[in-house]
Amino acid sequence: MQLTDYIRTIPDFPKPGISYKDITPLLINHKACEFAVSELVKGLKGQHIDKVVGIESRGFLFGMLLAQTLGIGFVPIRKPKKLPAKTLSQAYDLEYGSDTIEIHKDAIQKGERLLLHDDLLATGGTAAAACQLLEKLGGEIVQVNFIIELDFLEGRKHLPKAKVNSLIHY
Ligand code: PRP
Ligand code: MG
Repeated sequence: MQLTDYIRTIPDFPKPGISYKDITPLLINHKACEFAVSELVKGLKGQHIDKVVGIESRGFLFGMLLAQTLGIGFVPIRKPKKLPAKTLSQAYDLEYGSDTIEIHKDAIQKGERLLLHDDLLATGGTAAAACQLLEKLGGEIVQVNFIIELDFLEGRKHLPKAKVNSLIHY
């Protein structure tokens, strides 16, 4: 199976000059989703993982599937003011301005081995901020995986070395 067959590029979305990588053709095909999950699991090379952490919102889609497949729990990292209990926040820079993500403080125990998942690695700002949250809570990041990585944006240089695994590279 060729996963790229299930990714659609939409030119000039959400603004002129941006080529948006649309994963909805993948989501709509359950066999392709199953294949993507199995490839992501293969990339873990049998390493023990305690929890999967997914980043709102597209990181929830395969994050939860990965957690179910691995038989472990799922932790959401959310956009600000969405999580109801005590949270830890991390701001990060965007091209213009900044953004913040949050996690429940009690979601991770010290020393837990974590898989961080998001659908796409672009500049790396979001995933790097998520890694900071997990490290502040004492988690051990075993791998950060993505369906898609935009190599030309060099996002992986902001992430823990040798721990990034992406299924598709553009
Ligand atoms: C997209 C994508 C990643 C992030 C990658 O999310 O799903 O989470 O951008 O960008 P970066 O590497 O430059 O930080 P987006 O903020 O568009 O929101 P969504 O997941 O809710 O669609
Ligand atoms: Mg996202």
